[in-house]
Formats: sequence, C-alpha cells, structure tokens
Amino acid sequence: MKFLYGATRWVILVGPVALKIARFRPYRLVARLFVHARNGEVRMRLDKFDSRSKLVAVCRYIGAGVSANRAEYHLYREDERLRLIPVKSIWFWGLVLVQSRGDAIPHDCAEEATSHPMWSAMLEEAGSANKALKQFCLFNGRPHLADYGRWDLEGVIKTV
Ligand SMILES: Nc1ncnc2c1ncn2[C@@H]1O[C@H](COP(=O)(O)OP(=O)(O)O)[C@@H](O)[C@H]1O
Ligand SMILES: [Mg+2]
Repeated sequence: MKFLYGATRWVILVGPVALKIARFRPYRLVARLFVHARNGEVRMRLDKFDSRSKLVAVCRYIGAGVSANRAEYHLYREDERLRLIPVKSIWFWGLVLVQSRGDAIPHDCAEEATSHPMWSAMLEEAGSANKALKQFCLFNGRPHLADYGRWDLEGVIKTV
C-alpha cells in the first residue's frame, strides 16, 4: 500500500487500483487566502474558480477534489489514442474514485509523455514540465494521463 497526494486528492495505491479521495483543504484555504491577501491577489485567485461570486469560488475550491473525481469519471473513454488511465468506479457521489493503478514515469519515458495528446494542456496548467509529468503514469508500458479531472479537457478529449 502506498499513499500519495496531488493538489485536490489523496491517492491510495492498493493492489491493482488507485483510490482517489477528495481533499477539502480547509486549512489550506485559510492559509492561501492569507498569502494572497498579503500579495493583493485574492481577486485574481478567486477568478480562477468563478468570477461572479466569492462564495461560489470558495465552494468550488473546497469541492475541487469531488469535482476532479466526477470529471475523471465523466471524461474517461476507453480509447488507446487518448491514453487515459482507466476509471473503474465512483463512490459516494465523487468522494472516492477508483482508477487502475499506474507507476511513476521513469526517466527514459519522460520524452514519450511529451507526445501524449493532452501534454500541451497539462503543461499550460502546470507551468513546468516536471509538474506536468507528475500527472502522468506508466500504464501498459506507456505514459498514460492519470489526472484528467478538469472539465475544460472535454474539448481536447473530443477532438482526439
Ligand atoms: N491511477 C494512478 N496510479 C498510480 N498513481 C497515481 C494514479 N493517479 C494518481 N496517481 C499519483 O497520485 C498523484 C496525485 O494524483 P492526481 O490525479 O494528480 O490528483 P490531484 O487532482 O490531486 O492532482 C499523482 O501525481 C500521481 O503520482
Ligand atoms: Mg494532479
């Protein structure tokens, strides 16, 4: 058994599956608000989640893990061209997502990950190749996308 985490979810690797559990991050919310208030960036950060209302933005921040799980469940397609780590099940309305288990990308496969159809979208969001690479896993011997819990990827997935 192995424990990992990303920006919005805890990940428990057990046997052949990865259990992705939504994080609610209440302490992180307060800490980030404090940092952004000091830098005068609260408005900009809130806009990332919703520009209309602060309350909706805060709810979206807190519910980001559930939303990511639901997006992965909804967006998963069994299509070898897309190379998405398969979703097996979703529990408790998105609190937990069950995915097939992948492995960390070894150094000699990093180059292959950059030719993944979703690489540019992941790089743009992550801001660095290292961070983008953490969203991929080795599955069936090839880099597959593990973190596709973003609704804005729907367009990219449909056009591949
Ligand atoms: N199916 C999987 N198999 C193995 N490791 C995974 C799997 N899904 C995610 N991980 C690992 O867990 C980390 C966090 O998962 P991720 O899907 O990126 O969640 P978050 O939305 O929190 O960023 C990833 O960086 C990756 O290392
Ligand atoms: Mg991630």
